[in-house]
Amino acid sequence: MDNILEVKNLKKNFIQNQGFFTSNKKVFKAVDNVSFNIKRGTIMGLVGESGCGKSTTGKLILNLINPSGGEVIFNNKTLYNVENKIQLSGKNLRDLRKDMQIIFQDPYSSLDPRKSVESIVGEGVKKHNLLKKSELREYIISYLNQCGLDEDALKKYPHEFSGGQRQRIGIARALALKPKFIVCDEPTAALDVSIQSQILNLMLDLKEKHGLTYLFISHNLNVVKNFCDEIGVMYLGTIVEKGEAKEIFREPLHPYTKALIASVPKSHPLEKRERILLKGEIESASNIPEGCRFNTRCPFAKERCYKEEPKLLEVKKDHFVSCHLYNEL
Ligand SMILES: Nc1ncnc2c1ncn2[C@@H]1O[C@H](COP(=O)(O)OP(=O)(O)O)[C@@H](O)[C@H]1O
Ligand code: SF4
Ligand SMILES: [Mg+2]
Repeated sequence: MDNILEVKNLKKNFIQNQGFFTSNKKVFKAVDNVSFNIKRGTIMGLVGESGCGKSTTGKLILNLINPSGGEVIFNNKTLYNVENKIQLSGKNLRDLRKDMQIIFQDPYSSLDPRKSVESIVGEGVKKHNLLKKSELREYIISYLNQCGLDEDALKKYPHEFSGGQRQRIGIARALALKPKFIVCDEPTAALDVSIQSQILNLMLDLKEKHGLTYLFISHNLNVVKNFCDEIGVMYLGTIVEKGEAKEIFREPLHPYTKALIASVPKSHPLEKRERILLKGEIESASNIPEGCRFNTRCPFAKERCYKEEPKLLEVKKDHFVSCHLYNEL
């Protein structure tokens, strides 16, 4: 299986001025050296606590924000390479943009309240000149139908729908552009549990039907476990463990992943798990600890962990972890 997406050493620093009377600046390393590939037709999950850099990574991949470093290759085309000063532009960029869509977390704020569903779903299709005007309405209806909405939705406005239905509109909007790849940024986090599984099932059906690839961002490990083929666990701007989802849940290696998995209710009462309790809170992205960035919370931290940053290494087949406990093996 080939890679539809390759992300190499991605970085994003947000610079914040420290006040009107000072020139001091604070640097937030929101994304700090993130690398991963996604195989065509699969779902890659990105998990981690709030603030660890998941959404920023998603936006960088789509080039919705300017990167501070790194490279994104989509469908064998370089979207950008900061170090080599490569940046796709013009028609090539527009074509690539159509192939890469995003579904946002909050269906309340991501749909323009002043626009009808017809214009929301049709907007991108018109912009990219995908169809004749006379064919547009039927086309929009077919995508609404595929997302479980009927023709009556066309003339309505977002506030007339429930949260789950709004997310269906957001999915129809993304899908109508016939993308190859969708970044799904916590698409079910704002929905009731009963609605969440309906939306996830819809997304799985659509993926199969249209041969899509997803980057699925979530802080909910339970969702990721059943939904994703591979996962990357993010901590303070970087990936600390990645591999097949089944393998990572069966044998998590990084102390942070172990702690995250231990905090999820067991699926079977006899399931055995190592219990790791985290100390303290996640640090600020403006204050990343020296050495291993997890050392302020790790129960296994030793001298080396305060001096040397562990590399993300393949410690078992297709299973990568950045922790000195394994690097010594
Ligand atoms: N536009 C911005 N300006 C300054 N800091 C930002 C901006 N967007 C995100 N951040 C910071 O970057 C870090 C990562 O944020 P984000 O990618 O939204 O995390 P997540 O999606 O994992 O919750 C956080 O510390 C956040 O405060
Ligand atoms: S490198 Fe050290 S501090 Fe970091 S996760 Fe491993 S044991 Fe913990
Ligand atoms: Mg987010």
